[in-house]
Amino acid sequence: MLKDVENLKKTFKLRNLEIFPNTILSPMDGVTDAPFRRLCRVLSGNRMGLLVSEFVPTNADEVFSLTGHKQLKFYPEEKPFGIQIFGCYPDKMAAAAKKIADGLHPDYIEVNAGCPAPKVAGKGSGSGLLRDLPRLQEILHDTRKALDSCDVNIPLTLKCRIGWDDESINVMETLKIAEGEGVELLVVHGRTRLQGYNGLANWDWIGKVAAAAKIPVVGNGDVNSVECALERINTYGVSGVSIGRGAMHNPWIFGQIADAWEGKPAHIITAEEALDVFSIYYKFLEEEGRTELGAMGRLKQLAARLCKGFVDGSEDAAGSENVILSEVEESKGVSAAMEVRQTLLTAQTPEEFFERKEMLKNGIAKSLRYEPNRLVNLNGAKDNTLVFGNHYVNR
Ligand SMILES: Cc1cc2nc3c(=O)[nH]c(=O)nc-3n(C[C@H](O)[C@H](O)[C@H](O)COP(=O)(O)O)c2cc1C
Repeated sequence: MLKDVENLKKTFKLRNLEIFPNTILSPMDGVTDAPFRRLCRVLSGNRMGLLVSEFVPTNADEVFSLTGHKQLKFYPEEKPFGIQIFGCYPDKMAAAAKKIADGLHPDYIEVNAGCPAPKVAGKGSGSGLLRDLPRLQEILHDTRKALDSCDVNIPLTLKCRIGWDDESINVMETLKIAEGEGVELLVVHGRTRLQGYNGLANWDWIGKVAAAAKIPVVGNGDVNSVECALERINTYGVSGVSIGRGAMHNPWIFGQIADAWEGKPAHIITAEEALDVFSIYYKFLEEEGRTELGAMGRLKQLAARLCKGFVDGSEDAAGSENVILSEVEESKGVSAAMEVRQTLLTAQTPEEFFERKEMLKNGIAKSLRYEPNRLVNLNGAKDNTLVFGNHYVNR
């Protein structure tokens, strides 16, 4: 059993819903679609916390259409489920929220004030709203009002970054505005817009927001293991953690957290079990009607991340402590991981992918361990040394 688990916050409330474990699968456009969310859910033994859609655009539609956005699709088993919308026009955001709430009955609507992409933020949406807080306030106000007029009244939540750049960190103002406009949960990604996904999230700011907030604050940025989630919740006083890229490397992470919070022993994932994840994922992709090419792309996307966890059975265990490895340390065991990864990534068709997967399972995988926590660099960038804490060293 992990240290410090007894007195840990293990749930948070979204209005009257008690969320266990206190985790969110952070929305990632092009990744956390229904098949990926369902995969994480199955691997967690149905203990996911909250699930939320990829962000849904609202600017372009003259009249928001429920049929025009594939990101809106979710399955009843995904509940409690939120739909995240983005845009910069208060009337369009409000109209979309109402249509979604009345037509699809998600458990909550989330406004995105975090996306850093130039085509989003540059046009005043996503993190662009952090440069225009009066507009963000108007969006929250109008969206809340629209939700109040719906058949079923559901919560409004906000996901934001800490500010546009280091000179304009305004997350405390964002919190005040959000609370004033009836937002019921705030997810704070501890980076500025300028950072994109580089460097480390600044958890000191997340902690300040959590300390000042009357609503639950969920922290986001670089959480990649049970130990890390535990440390973040205990140290920074957040109500929970939102996990994005960490779940691409380790789609078991939510179940691992739930096990730890429930005082259960950590489930050891075998190399064979890790490889079998692709079959579960593919089934969900097929159910979604993905083309062979589309499904192949997603299988490879997952393989590129997940396969980094394979380690030679003969190597020293990296251990179950919060493992933050340097590039050099990470490269230990790379040979085994690389072989599995390359074999899968060079497959041309799903048929070939699964033939190779079976071959690996009956061959090299028998001599490998699987340690999803040994990952450091969630970006996959080469030039970063990530050191635990708030340090970021550019080599
Ligand atoms: C490929 C990708 C797509 C993303 N799409 C969204 C999105 O649609 N909505 C959103 O709020 N955040 C989005 N994000 C940001 C993540 O939700 C999260 O805030 C960020 O990755 C930091 O968390 P992490 O360190 O756990 O990955 C995206 C991130 C990535 C890497």
